[in-house]
Amino acid sequence: MGNLLAGKNILVMGVRNKWSIAWGIVNAAINEGANIIITYQGEREKKGASELGADSIFQCDISSDQDIDNLFAAIKEKYGTIHGVVHSIAHANTEDLQNDFIYTSREGFAHAMDVSAYSLVAVSRRAKEIMTEGGSIITLTYMGSEKVFPGYNVMGVAKAALEASVRYLASDLGPSGIKVNAISAGPIKTLSAKGVKNFGSILDTVEEKAPLRRNVTTEDVGKTALYLLSDLSSGVTGEIIHVDSGYHIMGI
Ligand SMILES: NC(=O)c1ccc[n+]([C@@H]2O[C@H](COP(=O)([O-])OP(=O)(O)OC[C@H]3O[C@@H](n4cnc5c(N)ncnc54)[C@H](O)[C@@H]3O)[C@@H](O)[C@H]2O)c1
Repeated sequence: MGNLLAGKNILVMGVRNKWSIAWGIVNAAINEGANIIITYQGEREKKGASELGADSIFQCDISSDQDIDNLFAAIKEKYGTIHGVVHSIAHANTEDLQNDFIYTSREGFAHAMDVSAYSLVAVSRRAKEIMTEGGSIITLTYMGSEKVFPGYNVMGVAKAALEASVRYLASDLGPSGIKVNAISAGPIKTLSAKGVKNFGSILDTVEEKAPLRRNVTTEDVGKTALYLLSDLSSGVTGEIIHVDSGYHIMGI
């Protein structure tokens, strides 16, 4: 047990179960003394999220401005201030991850962008109001924003928008002492990842060709999140940090 995040109130959005990347981050942060506030999307996700030992747990569908307003009002009332936000949320319609990208519907495109990219903007705006001591906001992205991974499709487009949003938010929030960064994780077997066609073959390719000859874990991502959430990364903002076993340098 360390004290990198001792006394810090950290909001983690996107824990569904113990395989979630956000769960790896929660574990790492609890071990470093953080007070963890977790949100879950709806009743279906409540059970998994409530088993994780957070200080507080709130419902929040990130596509609803009302839900986000209610969440931040409740956090302000209970904690007064927060020091970190972890945004670990994405969604696209199943058919848009199964067909070729060219068949993405207007509605499917807007949905993926709203839940997976705009939501970071919506959350950061509210977070700024209660991050009165400065802070750190992090989100999760994937290399499908830069390169074509058949099956990742509209999610790749949404991740490109998310990464650009990180840079613009970092610029807006820097004067308030708030850092905004993204972790670009390698493929990890989670519930969301199972929706991507060919996901299994992506995992196999990494294991075979990445410099470390292995896939990353939620623990690996959790450690980098600790760095970004703590003062160790003071001065680091607007960055996309790759935690992907060096996969992105392999040109595959
Ligand atoms: N698993 C991977 O290979 C991988 C790699 C790189 C980046 N990522 C990213 O990591 C993040 C977390 O995904 P994960 O792989 O841990 O999967 P996951 O299924 O465990 O987590 C996704 C979370 O998004 C939440 N969510 C979806 N729509 C929501 C909404 N409208 N309101 C509130 N919450 C909503 C789900 O409830 C769930 O908790 C995502 O942004 C994903 O794109 C995943």
